Amino acid sequence: MTLLKIARMGHPVLHQRAEELSEEEIQCPEIQRLIDDMIETMEDADGVGIAAPQVFVSKRLFIASLPPDNDRYDLVGEADVPPTAFLNPTFVEHSKATEEGFEGCLSIPSIRGLVPRWTELRMEALDRHGKPLSIKADGFFARVLQHEMDHLDGILFPERIEDMRTLSFEEEFDRYVMADLQQRT
Ligand code: NI
Repeated sequence: MTLLKIARMGHPVLHQRAEELSEEEIQCPEIQRLIDDMIETMEDADGVGIAAPQVFVSKRLFIASLPPDNDRYDLVGEADVPPTAFLNPTFVEHSKATEEGFEGCLSIPSIRGLVPRWTELRMEALDRHGKPLSIKADGFFARVLQHEMDHLDGILFPERIEDMRTLSFEEEFDRYVMADLQQRT
């Protein structure tokens, strides 16, 4: 397996709509290798999700995970999900309610911001072998799926921030923005 280079904000591949994968593409060894390399790259970078455009492949494919007992994401009470590939995903249902939470992105190192996302959703996709999947998600995992889906549509999380003053470096975010949010809730 290989660690892949990660595209950074400003590169055009991150700002365009990615293409659907055909059935033939899904079955080809290159895509299977890409999925393995994306998982390895995501884990190496300590991320919880990675989308194909982030490794310069403009295809509708992302990996999402929910690591167990991850202090960094404050995931108490959420069931863990191993790194899973989702191909040609679509949201088929979502809550009206949204919730603000912090996000970061491997393509925007050291930066965080508060982003509103739907609290619950249902997503249909294909698994890495082309088998249909239907999953329900809420909380932080629903947030991860929305963040990764945005990558497939050429949208980066700062474009979703409502209060641009929350766009911060990681250290200042933890020290000031999160402290302020916790005070408000
Ligand atoms: Ni991202």
